[in-house]
Amino acid sequence: MSENLTYEKVNKIFDVGGKNPVHALCDVSFTINSGELFCLLGPSGCGKTTLLRSTAGLETITSGKMLYGDVDISTIPPYKRNIGMVFQSFALYPHMNIFENVAYGLRVRKTPEAEVKRKVTEVMELVGLQDELKRNPSPTALSGGQQQRVAIARALVYSPDILLLDEPLANLDAKLRRYMRAEIRRIQKATNITTIFVTHDQEEAMAVGDRLAVLRKGVVEQIGTSDELYTQPQNSFVANFIGKMNFFKAEIENIDGASALARVKGTGFAETVDRSRIHGSFTKGSSALLGARPEQLIVSKALPQRPSLPGTVKIIQHLGQFVRYEVEMEGDAASAIFEIDMGGLVVDIKEGEKVNVSLKSSLASLYEAKEEA
Ligand SMILES: Nc1ncnc2c1ncn2[C@@H]1O[C@H](COP(=O)(O)OP(=O)(O)O)[C@@H](O)[C@H]1O
Ligand SMILES: [Mg+2]
Repeated sequence: MSENLTYEKVNKIFDVGGKNPVHALCDVSFTINSGELFCLLGPSGCGKTTLLRSTAGLETITSGKMLYGDVDISTIPPYKRNIGMVFQSFALYPHMNIFENVAYGLRVRKTPEAEVKRKVTEVMELVGLQDELKRNPSPTALSGGQQQRVAIARALVYSPDILLLDEPLANLDAKLRRYMRAEIRRIQKATNITTIFVTHDQEEAMAVGDRLAVLRKGVVEQIGTSDELYTQPQNSFVANFIGKMNFFKAEIENIDGASALARVKGTGFAETVDRSRIHGSFTKGSSALLGARPEQLIVSKALPQRPSLPGTVKIIQHLGQFVRYEVEMEGDAASAIFEIDMGGLVVDIKEGEKVNVSLKSSLASLYEAKEEA
């Protein structure tokens, strides 16, 4: 029976010769449900690999617990944890054929030969390499995508309780990467093995995961489905990491239980923000960031009816379903470069021209100013 995997106040401190120890994981606490495909997302150096290696037992955590069901696995040696791991570099054995690469974990476990054959065949079918298995070459004779499948098969063959994938697609080209995202979802759903998929690519995490955790500097910033993270980011870091968020620098002019009135400093640009979109605690006079997604803003040449701020169009990009305007905002009332997505080309606006930027609808959100991304 498969169980939930729970992290309880997990800390990992790397002691690097006495000075400036690295606090790689800070009170990490969350639960991954049995059978879930869970993504760990965050910029390089935020602690993703450290959490995976700690789960596998390749690092010893400084404090906290890691529970598989009711059992604390943090003191169990790695070879007794029954965890499969796939590394970014694939880490296949070039001197062994692909059968032996995949069979490795079974041989270590002293599995009878007939069962080795049956299990390797089964898992190679699952990852779509049945034809390659018949030829049985060295992994070096395979393409990058096929090598990645061998690495996944090798981790799955002994039916691990947990599968850990550390940036498994990072070494593949862009097109194959997009294809393999769907493959990984298919394979995970077919086996139902609890899986942690690590990536620094937000689009990949949103496409692959049932749920995601966003990690920054060893701290879990938010956990939720792709949709929850995109539509209800809890702070400005998540807001700008999951998709783009443009920020106006504002001040709270009025606040009550229902809404807040935020004014962009020194301008006539003010917006009422509904309580459901206020993230953080504010009082009258506090500084705040007023955030708007690219599709929530409008660029126009003529002064719009709604309050607006001036900027200069730097770049216009046609991106199929929409046209993206990169606008350099004037003064310091806003983060320097805005991205604004319009449904189509605005005919009278050219690169290098001055425009007015306004909010399309009252869907802007408020975030605390101190945590600007
Ligand atoms: N063995 C180690 N010794 C010292 N510092 C380490 C070690 N491994 C990782 N770190 C540091 O811990 C932090 C998290 O690293 P890592 O988990 O590899 O991040 P990510 O996988 O998200 O890029 C970084 O600051 C990194 O430099
Ligand atoms: Mg890493």
